[in-house]
Amino acid sequence: MNLGLKGRNAVVTGASKGIGKAIARGLADEGVNLVLLARGVEELEKSAAEICQATGVRVVTVPTDMRETAAVKAAAERAAAEFKSVHILVNNAGGPIKRQERQITWPDTDWMDDVNIKTMGMLRMIQALLPVMPTDGTGRIINISGIAGSSVLSSALTHGLNNSAMNHVTTYLAQDLSASRITVNSVIPGLIATEWRQGWAENMGRQRGQTTQQFLDDTCRDWGIPSRRWGTMDEVADVVTFLASDRASYVNGARITVDGGYTINTRNS
Ligand SMILES: NC(=O)c1ccc[n+]([C@@H]2O[C@H](COP(=O)([O-])OP(=O)(O)OC[C@H]3O[C@@H](n4cnc5c(N)ncnc54)[C@H](OP(=O)(O)O)[C@@H]3O)[C@@H](O)[C@H]2O)c1
Repeated sequence: MNLGLKGRNAVVTGASKGIGKAIARGLADEGVNLVLLARGVEELEKSAAEICQATGVRVVTVPTDMRETAAVKAAAERAAAEFKSVHILVNNAGGPIKRQERQITWPDTDWMDDVNIKTMGMLRMIQALLPVMPTDGTGRIINISGIAGSSVLSSALTHGLNNSAMNHVTTYLAQDLSASRITVNSVIPGLIATEWRQGWAENMGRQRGQTTQQFLDDTCRDWGIPSRRWGTMDEVADVVTFLASDRASYVNGARITVDGGYTINTRNS
């Protein structure tokens, strides 16, 4: 399938590792030029160098904290200066779960910090980039939310808040931006084998006297994941790349799960 993405330009937030890096690579494999955002300069540069070397697309890095309005605006200005227009925005940046205590006991500054990164960061980025997004039907906003937005995962109160807020913003803006012919969709990953999740599975397995694979098999069974495994970062990136393309021009305001069937809510007896 020809996705028609060659020569388009994308901004990917949280692109220095994990799902964001895989999305950046997936887009670059289709010939999309990139502006990659994250805070940590070293990892960001490493990610950019790897992608550039493997694909030959233009890759620009802008160290950016999504919590800072001025920094997000500056990143959008840099993207415009480099590429004139930005067809694709992927809002992926999100922080890890800060600590394991019940989140209702956290100080509100910590709740606010989580929301500031993911929900407010998304809104800031969209607002800053809209003036340079094309209105010819090639504009795409793709929000990476997560299953914590529609199910109860312990220690994920603010993550759930962010993900459900993101899904709402997706549907709201699909309507609001319709005159600009920009589509807005959510991709909702389930349990995905990112670098930090690998570390989590290894630690949890060790604590329970299990191999990592045994722990994962038990977790997928206990969570009721019909595909009986976790997903790869590329499986998320492939869906995002499709949504970014002309082939997905009639997909708008959608919430697409990439979770091995987790949300069909199976019960194991
Ligand atoms: N992994 C999963 O199983 C899973 C499941 C469902 C949903 N998700 C969602 O998918 C997205 C990516 O998750 P991931 O697991 O790939 O995360 P990750 O590996 O921890 O990567 C997060 C990325 O976001 C960046 N980031 C964090 N805070 C930031 C800030 N304040 N400003 C700018 N960038 C920031 C990080 O770089 P710096 O720290 O250097 O800034 C990094 O590039 C998140 O929104 C997450 O909620 C993940």
